[in-house]
Amino acid sequence: MSLLAQPLKLPNGIVLKNRIGKAPLTEGLADEMNRATARHASLYGKWAEGGAGVVVTGNVQVDRRYLERPGNVVIDGSLGEVEGGLEALRAYARAGTAHGTQLWMQISHPGRQTPRRVCDHPVAPSAVPLALPESAFARPRAMTADEVAEVPRRFAHTAAMARAAGFTGVQIHAAHGYLLSQFLTPLVNKREDRWGGGLAARAGLLLEVVRAVRQATAPGFCISVKLNSSDFQQGGFSNEECLQVVRWLGEASVDLIEISGGNYERPAMMGSGAKESTVKREAYFLDYARLIKQAAPVPIMLTGGFRTKAAMEGALAEGACDVIGLGRPMCVDTDLPHRLLTGETDRAEAYEDRIVPAKAGLGWFCLQLIAHGDGRDPDRAMSGDDAIKGYIANEEKTAAALVGR
Ligand SMILES: Cc1cc2nc3c(=O)[nH]c(=O)nc-3n(C[C@H](O)[C@H](O)[C@H](O)COP(=O)(O)O)c2cc1C
Repeated sequence: MSLLAQPLKLPNGIVLKNRIGKAPLTEGLADEMNRATARHASLYGKWAEGGAGVVVTGNVQVDRRYLERPGNVVIDGSLGEVEGGLEALRAYARAGTAHGTQLWMQISHPGRQTPRRVCDHPVAPSAVPLALPESAFARPRAMTADEVAEVPRRFAHTAAMARAAGFTGVQIHAAHGYLLSQFLTPLVNKREDRWGGGLAARAGLLLEVVRAVRQATAPGFCISVKLNSSDFQQGGFSNEECLQVVRWLGEASVDLIEISGGNYERPAMMGSGAKESTVKREAYFLDYARLIKQAAPVPIMLTGGFRTKAAMEGALAEGACDVIGLGRPMCVDTDLPHRLLTGETDRAEAYEDRIVPAKAGLGWFCLQLIAHGDGRDPDRAMSGDDAIKGYIANEEKTAAALVGR
């Protein structure tokens, strides 16, 4: 039996039917009130059919004022959860849990990575702007102590709604430069209150969120965290700090940690800045995963760069991780896990290598997800120029339609 096909028992007793995880991929399929739609059920039905043991959703926001993009699902208790939103969420959960698939909602707050298209007044631990064009991301203000204290309650509410709708777990997004990741890094967290300073203080908000989510849900409901192995920035959240946070998360009994790296300023999660030998070896964060596995006995899903079955099985065989996370290939080939598990294929297509210009990649992959949601076939021949134009048009149209902005 392929190592990929072996089940995995999580600390809470839940069993993943195999070792393939569909990594979180923002879908942009919500309606004008940021509610789930039939398009989610269509897309997640395909992924459940596709055979992964666990499917993590694209990031769902805990506060509608701060979106990662206009088509995000939001569950913050302010709008739409009762009037129709919950039914669509239930249909989405039913489709995504078919065939014994674990379906975990990624819950998130983008903090200063909230684009100007949806918000002119983003918040962050401290008023540190992104080193990216101000036309895309407005300068954030520092959150008040009351606003910070409200964050765990918001994550807990979204997690409780996810459980009520039929999702089997949540993943708390603490990677990629989103709010909880901003609290972890001294480059953005310059607070002088209980949430800033040494690592224990900077990690305090994440640990509070884990506790609040645990309290708001039930045993058997999986709690995962997505965490950076490192921010790969001078003076930022380092690998040593990551190892300590993993130990604390282990003590807090999280069921799985997904390891990635980087943020909008330094997009290491997509392989940017990786050495040629690392890209060739696949698994951008493999060396870090080895250290993380030694730090604490928490199941690890390693995401970023895996394309061949040989590399996936190699990482599992040496014990560097327990689950292989797949992102970009799953935007196009939703049945990839099934084909890897049955031996029908021994590799994922590296579509990113053929997209010109490379900066069109994000839009190209996002438009493939929208095609699946609309029940269309993916467009593997889409040009980079069409991807950029199509993506911008989609984001502008979706932003313009949002209610109450
Ligand atoms: C279109 C797209 C959307 C993404 N959305 C999310 C997201 O919502 N949350 C998240 O944690 N990561 C997100 N990611 C990052 C992926 O989960 C993953 O870390 C990254 O694609 C690297 O894995 P890969 O090499 O298998 O693609 C996204 C990536 C892409 C390409």
